[in-house]
This record gives sequence, structure tokens and C-alpha cells, in this order.
Amino acid sequence: MGELTRRGLLVGIGAAGGAGAMYAAMGALGLAPAEQERSFTPPQAGDFTLRGRSSASVVILGAGVAGLTAAYELGKAGYDCTILEARPKAGGRSLTLRGGDRLTEAGGQAQDVRFGEGAYFNAGPGRIAPWMVTMDYCRELGVPIETFVNNNAAAYVHTNGVTVRARTARADLYGYISELLAKATDAGRLDRRLTAEDRERLLEFLRRFGDLGPKLDYDGSPRRGFLESPDIDGGVPIEGPGSLRQVLAAGTGRAITNDFGYDQATPMFQPVGGMDAIVTALLDRVGAGRVRTGIKVTKITSLADGVEVEWAGGRLKADYCVAALPPHILAKIPHNLGAQVGAALARPVPVAAGKIGLEYGRRWWELEDRIYGGVTETDLDITHIWYPSHGYHGKTGIVVGYYATEEHAELYGALTPEDRRRRALTQGKKIHGDKYRNDLLSSVSIAWERQEHIMGGWVRWPSIDSSFTLLQRPAGRVYFAGDWLTHLIAWQAGAMESARSAVTQLHQRALQSP
Ligand code: PHE
Repeated sequence: MGELTRRGLLVGIGAAGGAGAMYAAMGALGLAPAEQERSFTPPQAGDFTLRGRSSASVVILGAGVAGLTAAYELGKAGYDCTILEARPKAGGRSLTLRGGDRLTEAGGQAQDVRFGEGAYFNAGPGRIAPWMVTMDYCRELGVPIETFVNNNAAAYVHTNGVTVRARTARADLYGYISELLAKATDAGRLDRRLTAEDRERLLEFLRRFGDLGPKLDYDGSPRRGFLESPDIDGGVPIEGPGSLRQVLAAGTGRAITNDFGYDQATPMFQPVGGMDAIVTALLDRVGAGRVRTGIKVTKITSLADGVEVEWAGGRLKADYCVAALPPHILAKIPHNLGAQVGAALARPVPVAAGKIGLEYGRRWWELEDRIYGGVTETDLDITHIWYPSHGYHGKTGIVVGYYATEEHAELYGALTPEDRRRRALTQGKKIHGDKYRNDLLSSVSIAWERQEHIMGGWVRWPSIDSSFTLLQRPAGRVYFAGDWLTHLIAWQAGAMESARSAVTQLHQRALQSP
């Protein structure tokens, strides 16, 4: 009798019981295209009234994505939320810059953004993975999204002074790696690991993966690209490949795995018109009147019956507090939450991050390089160049000329805006040539470690330890929220997930409290 395969079993169940039965069986076998686990139950309108009680008041510190998400979710059950924001505008790091904006910086020059009509630059978050809760908020809030091109074969890889197309770097690395492994396999070097059948299967895969020749050699492939693309003629392949040794020495390997991660895999998405569409939609639902800007909190006191928050010239008492500030900012505000909380808040280390938006009057990357969105990876201090994933074939466009973190970000951050631009252009020219300097209309650069009341791109925990879990629970009547309290640091999804967790805990307590 033939072996009963899992596939055969599932097809059988599918035929007999329909898709539902098949999916249930797949789930039981651990094969289900797992329905995303979404355990969050938003507070609801009737939660308080059906219990014959009135809702509670909450003071939220910080109108970034975490604070706004908390206010939005709490608002569903009628909580009376007040958001105190130190900066002049809500949104925090979810900042989109447009013409007419003015960007100030701690101890640095202010920049007037001169981008043309309709042009925008996502100075903070720029891409969303489809599995992230950010997508659910886009859906719920009616924020239209479009594809963010995170991987483009036509973009470049620039390492050790040499520029090649990403497709060429990939073809050569996959090709040579496949050749090495195929030859080792063929020579019997892996026989202790592989049966004869395994070996055949592996070789079959490697031939495909590396585009190997009949003798298991890699000697180039149309995958590498063309100087002149095929048309009625066969086209002119680009030169190469170099030898295995040359390919390894080129150091392009660092640049071909960027989209391998769970959080970077293609396709990714972006809100149409700018990332701040999410903030705008949240603000709209929360009610802009609930956000008080320019309020720099100087003291947080958790009391038996509420939380008191003070600032120069004012104070406010609420039943609960959600502190949705960066930990290194929060750590500096005097509080009575205890030494352990104080020490825990001081653990995360801010990480510098910066970007520059270069507005061009001509989309040369599309016209001349045939690059439509995507990212060029470099070993220069600019690290990445992003091409816009929208406005294709328009007149103008904004290229992200650097997106650097840590010491490279600090290097750019320490320069004046003009010097940042100059340096970014010098570096970008190494990849794109002289045209990189031409047709530049304007630019603006951000150094997140110099943004007032934020002072960092994100944070790094020296280790995810008891401090991390301690702050995931309330201290007295104060709840903490932010991407820094999740395993999704540097993602809006982290801020949102954290806000949901704080809201869930707070709401359970508020419903139970006498
Ligand atoms: N979310 C940011 C980005 O996509 C920072 C980040 C990069 C976070 C890579 C995790 C991994 O650029």
C-alpha cells in the first residue's frame, strides 16, 4: 500500500470536509498558514456603562505612536484622556517633512524645508512589514497604503570602491557558493551527511540556485544583467564574472541579505502620502484637543487614588498615567516610582540614527538607472540610499541620501546641515557619478539623537532582563509604553503593541477597582 503522505491526507480531508476542515487539520498538524494571533480586545463603549460605573481619567505622557495608540484604544471605552507632549507637534519619531516645515535641533541649526508641493520625506519610520500590527491600524483607520520597494535587483551595491547592481552581486555570490557546494557534494565530501538521493536533490537545487553549467561550474548567468538589454537582439551581457576570489574580495556579501529578515522581507508597505498619515488618523480619532503640546513634565507622583503630573506653571491629576516617552527622557523626570523603576529606566542606551532627504528636479534614477524604488547598500558612511517608492515618472523626487545609525549617524549629526548635504553628495557621487550633484533642488537632514525630547533614533538594551519585564508592568498607577518595551524596537508596531498591552492592563484594573 502506498504511503499516506501528509499532503495526500490534507487533500483528502479538503475534498471531504471542505476548506474549513482542511485548515483545521493543517492547524493540528502545525501546517496552517497561521491566522495571526491577535489576542488584543479593545476596550468597548459599554464596558463601563454596562457595569453602572463611570470611566476613568488617564494622563498620557508623549503624543508619539505609543501615546496616541493608547489614547485611541482607551477612547473606545470613553476614558477621559489628556496627552501631554513636550514637542510643538504630535507624532514623535513618526515625522514626515514637507515644504514649509521647520526642523529644529538641540544645539544645532534650524532647517526650513523647501520641498515642492506634494513632496514628502519620511524622516522617521519608512516601511511596514505586512505581519505588523501597524497594518491593522492602517486598515482600521482607513489609511491607504502602497508597496514599499525594499529589495530592488536594479539598485546598486557599493563596496570597496566598486559599484555593481544588486542582481549582479547576488548572481555571482549565489553562483559561486553553489559551485563550491555542488563540487564538494559531487566529490563525495558530504557523503557522511548525505545519501545518494539527498545528493541528487541537493545538486538539482544548487544548479538552479546558482545557475550552474553542466559541469557544475558557475561562469556567469543572464541573471547578472546586461549593458544592453535583450530586445530583437540578444543584448550585451555585462562583463564578468570575476573569479571566486575576486567576488569574495569585492565584499558584496554584506549587501545581499538585507531583506532576509522577518521584519524586512518583501513586500513591505508605506502609507500613501507620508508615514504621518497614521499619526494624523490617530489624532483625528482621539481628538486633537486632547493633546496639549509644549508641556514639559517635571514630576510624576503616583498616589493612592491617582497620579499627579507637574510642569512649569501647571499640574494635572488623573486616575492613571501612561508614560509613553523614551526611557532615557523618562529617567530624568523626578518621580516616586521607586529606585528599581529608576534603575530600570536608565538601562536602555539611546542609539543615534539619521537621514537626509535630497530633492531632485529630475528622477535620474528612473530615467538613467532604471531604478524604481528600493535600496542601494554601501560600505560608505551613508550606509544606504533609498529611492522613492511612489511618484514614479513624476517631475521631481526625494532620494534618501543617507540612512545611518550609530557612529556613522553621529558623524553626520555633528555636522551642519550644509556639511551633511555636501558629504552625502560626495559619497553618493561615488555610486551615481556627477549627476548626483545635478538637479538638486533642496535637502533636509535629521539627527534623531539631537531631536529635542527624543534624543535618539531608538534604544538598545544591554540585555533584555528583569528591568525590561519590570517596566512592562505598572509602577503604582503609572503604565509604561513604547517600542523600547517590546521585541520590536525601532518599529511603530512596537509602540502600538506596547500601548495595547498597557491599555489591556489598565482597563482590567479600572473595571475592577471599586
Ligand atoms: N525599523 C527600522 C528600519 O526598518 C530600523 C530597523 C532596521 C529595525 C532593521 C530592525 C531591523 O529601518
